[in-house]
Amino acid sequence: MQKTYKTHLYILSTFTKGNKKYYFLLEYSLTYMKNFTTLLFSLTIVLIFSSCTTEKISIQSPSKNISIDFSITNTGKAAYQVSYDNKTIIKKSTLGMDFKNAPSLSTDLRIISSSTKEINNTWEMLWGEQRKVNNTYNELIVNLEETKAPNRKFNVVFKVYDNGVGFRYEFPKQSNWNKVIIMDENTQFNLTGDHTCWWIPGDWDIYEHLYNTTKFSEIDAIAKRNHPNLAQSTIPYNAVNTPITMKTKEGIYLSFHEANLTNYSGMTLLIDNKNFKMQSKLVGSRDKSKVKRDIPFNTPWRTIMIGESAGDLIESNLIVNLNEPNKLNDVSYIKPMKYMGIWWEMHLGKAAWDYGMTREGDTWVDKGNAHGRHGATTKNTKHYIDFAAKHDIKGLLVEGWNTGWEHWVGFEDREGVFDFVTPYPDYDLQEVVRYGKEKGVDIIMHHETSGAPRTYEQQLDTAYSLMQNLGIHAVKTGYVGNIIPKGEYHHGQWMVNHYRKVLLKAAESKVMLDAHEPIKATGLRRTYPNMVSREGLRGQEFNAWSIDMNPPEHLTIIPFTRMLAGPIDFTPGIFDIKFNKYNKVNQVNTTLAKQLALYVVINSPIQMAADLPENYEGNPAFQFIDDVAVNWEQTKVLNGEIGDYVTIARQARGKDEWFIGSITDENSRQFEISLDFLTPETKYMATIYADAKDAHWDKNPTAYSITKKILTSTDTLNLSLAEGGGAAISIIPVK
Ligand code: NOJ
Ligand code: CA
Repeated sequence: MQKTYKTHLYILSTFTKGNKKYYFLLEYSLTYMKNFTTLLFSLTIVLIFSSCTTEKISIQSPSKNISIDFSITNTGKAAYQVSYDNKTIIKKSTLGMDFKNAPSLSTDLRIISSSTKEINNTWEMLWGEQRKVNNTYNELIVNLEETKAPNRKFNVVFKVYDNGVGFRYEFPKQSNWNKVIIMDENTQFNLTGDHTCWWIPGDWDIYEHLYNTTKFSEIDAIAKRNHPNLAQSTIPYNAVNTPITMKTKEGIYLSFHEANLTNYSGMTLLIDNKNFKMQSKLVGSRDKSKVKRDIPFNTPWRTIMIGESAGDLIESNLIVNLNEPNKLNDVSYIKPMKYMGIWWEMHLGKAAWDYGMTREGDTWVDKGNAHGRHGATTKNTKHYIDFAAKHDIKGLLVEGWNTGWEHWVGFEDREGVFDFVTPYPDYDLQEVVRYGKEKGVDIIMHHETSGAPRTYEQQLDTAYSLMQNLGIHAVKTGYVGNIIPKGEYHHGQWMVNHYRKVLLKAAESKVMLDAHEPIKATGLRRTYPNMVSREGLRGQEFNAWSIDMNPPEHLTIIPFTRMLAGPIDFTPGIFDIKFNKYNKVNQVNTTLAKQLALYVVINSPIQMAADLPENYEGNPAFQFIDDVAVNWEQTKVLNGEIGDYVTIARQARGKDEWFIGSITDENSRQFEISLDFLTPETKYMATIYADAKDAHWDKNPTAYSITKKILTSTDTLNLSLAEGGGAAISIIPVK
């Protein structure tokens, strides 16, 4: 009998599909006869098992109160989860993107590698709510790849701060992928319960909505009821714009927004009211796509602020920290200031923007001063300059100075109408600029585009060289009306890029920019500090003409929502609260003292004294507007509940002077304010502008008192706020 030999070889091999790793134990056996005449080979799989490779990568904030767990789910999706004080605050939420002409980037992902970094630095704000900004966070970069062809790669980057999180998608350069058309981004925010929410609808054109206060589960139904126009359009009605702010049952405050919105579409959040989930829904465009980009590129940061108190949100620097440092070389022209405007008189209907030229066929025919009410005249401008100069107010906005106002809002064919260099005949631009300079008041240019950005872009060069030639360093832009071309939206990528083009043109021309009907603020003021302020909310103007005026609670919600995004051109300071002279049903729904408090509560390096000179003349309360600073060393939120009240103290930049603003909703309130933030052993003169005892936003809005008191850091201040009222205090060292 011939001898046979057998050899066994065992090999452990693996392969990965989705997040599953399969292990095989292979047995190779070789059988041969002694004389090697016969060789038998057999392969047997003796063992097979699979395991979930759900790799989890965790990172904590510097003080370890916030942690992120990043993982791959069992369908191979990328997911993150956020904990605050060891409790889940955002449940496992998945990430992903849909593309045109390419498979979604969603499942079958694997982690190639990851890395972490600790960052700790401080930077200075050129202007703003504080001088020094601490930027301390831990960073996690997760490098991901599809497990199947085409094996596309992307990274998810997290920056974890002690008061919030930012994360974004990064698409690195890769050989087989160089362009994307994003049809939507599917970033989830999976909430832990039915939080109380402060929100505006996810309108793609307008942020000028009143805030709703509802449970998360109610957003859907209330949005449908309150915004029927959206419910009928292609824009999802059951979405919200950001910032959306929430309070959990446990009393934790959350706010969701985005930072550094660059060459991308604005993000709204789609509401799944049953599962307490939000998912990103990007603003659309003419061709129904959301974003077109060449690779490499990064998305904006998706941000979650987390606070123990409502005031923590206001004190957060998350949004600016997630933006790049200043890129402008010359910032000498960027100066915080108070300004006035030939503006409110148009909103009240006392004056008109237009001069009375009408278009006949292709030509404009001068019909003379048809209305006799044109606001932007040389004479009126000089009158405002004289008042501003007396009060050391540095800027004067003049709206309605240029041709085109006869054919703006309400007309479909708004392209080629506004002319950004040609004044009406009764406005001598050169002369008012000269007169202003002589008196120390600079004219602020006004460019209303009426939603026709192509017309504006055609004239950018001439319009901005005119400003340069005249030495004008500030412009207010406006985008009233639906965007032409039809199908583009104020908050879509096409307009995001337009707003950026204008911002850069302004920087190149040494001009500060204040945009109305803007794209939301996302912290770009850090990178381009000439982006000084913007509207993007229901401003004061609604009180002049809207049937639903801003209610008394409006401004107690704004600091905890819209203001978290960045500075606001709200235009405070209306003293003629009831507009009696104009026989209007409208009014401002605050007391006069509350109007003063807004100069401190609302963050903006440019603050308007919005009323007419005649309404200020001789009113002692104007002294507060005279005195209040517009640029700050530091900011402290002394108290606050969203939609109820807020008190903010700000120290003037480079001075030992403090200003306090306190406002309430429709309820009266008493506060005892500790002054322990003042320099010890220093005597200060506090001037308190308070609601009179019988003041009331509707019944008696203009009743106020002014009291003076010597105070030190060991004193407390008792404030009494009327219904819809407020208090404004200046605290200046006694010499
Ligand atoms: C809307 C702006 O918000 C407002 O401030 C401006 O007066 C008008 N558009 C006209 O440009
Ligand atoms: Ca507006």
